[in-house]
Amino acid sequence: MPQTFNTRITRLFNIRHPVLAGGLMWLSDADYVAAVVNAGGMGFITSRSSATLPEFETQLARCAALTSAKPFGVNLSTSRHSAVPLMTYLDAALSAGVRHFETAGRAPADDLIRRIKHAGGVVIHKVPLLRHAITAQRLGVDAVAIVGMECGGHPGANTDMPAMLGGALAAGRLQIPYAIGGGIGNGAQILAALAVGADAVVIGTRFLAGAEVTAHPAYKARMVAAGEHDHTVCFASNTPLGGAWRVLNNATAREVREREAQGRTDYESFADLTTGTLQRDAAYAQGDVEQGMLSMGPAVAFIDQVEPIAAIMDRLMAEAAAATNRLETLTRS
Ligand SMILES: Cc1cc2nc3c(=O)[nH]c(=O)nc-3n(C[C@H](O)[C@H](O)[C@H](O)COP(=O)(O)O)c2cc1C
Repeated sequence: MPQTFNTRITRLFNIRHPVLAGGLMWLSDADYVAAVVNAGGMGFITSRSSATLPEFETQLARCAALTSAKPFGVNLSTSRHSAVPLMTYLDAALSAGVRHFETAGRAPADDLIRRIKHAGGVVIHKVPLLRHAITAQRLGVDAVAIVGMECGGHPGANTDMPAMLGGALAAGRLQIPYAIGGGIGNGAQILAALAVGADAVVIGTRFLAGAEVTAHPAYKARMVAAGEHDHTVCFASNTPLGGAWRVLNNATAREVREREAQGRTDYESFADLTTGTLQRDAAYAQGDVEQGMLSMGPAVAFIDQVEPIAAIMDRLMAEAAAATNRLETLTRS
């Protein structure tokens, strides 16, 4: 699908479509990120999903091969525990030629930004609230992504600000380019995001049943079947794990909610359920979708089949074009 939108973010990342595929723990590996890049967007390998440096380096090399050396990105978590120190992941990515970074979590430290900039790289920092975006802007990031309360995964401190509202407010308050994310799964929403002032969208959930996602067919079938009410939010009020977490409403999530209702607030009370290896091994690898905290949001309702990422991207851009035509019709009449 040819380029239709030319924004500050398509220029910053040198991409055809204003679509960023946010990092997905365990799932945004080389194959997924390469599929996004080859489809005209920008994807980010989650460094934290690699338990060792050699494993991470293998992912980087595989992605470079699958993209025929097109630029691709790496997601760095600035607050969550990583098996390998953050700066070690960063240095490995820079050595492999990666220049595009999505950071998420705490405000990125000066030396992180400086090291990326010094290497000629670009960093977009993902935040749940506009005020965090303003801080990141002051710290010198190139762009920010603001995710609404409806996003899959961790909306952080954002429990009441939808993506479109935050995105519209951002227009008057940010000077740097910004993307908005959360609940976006249809191309008309991309047009709406651009209309309120954003330069791109961040998508996670809509891509979960992509053919190139490394996950069990039963997991993808569950994503196809799920509707907009099949998610739940855990840890909305207490924060043993750092805040709200929007996931598939499955047996694990219900057990977490049950323990929350019993007033348990310490990390140990939930550790057996929230461990990432439960998601990775039981759900993503073996297809038992009742096990593990499986991040997703209401945009899952837009998934209607397993199909290549390029086909999803083409559909999104065709929907954006149809929405543009609709607006033209309305303004002519
Ligand atoms: C399965 C899954 C795993 C995620 N893991 C991460 C992660 O490790 N790091 C991160 O920055 N964001 C993570 N996210 C958030 C996405 O990058 C993105 O911001 C979010 O999915 C956008 O909202 P949407 O799901 O409504 O499209 C994850 C989201 C999902 C659905």
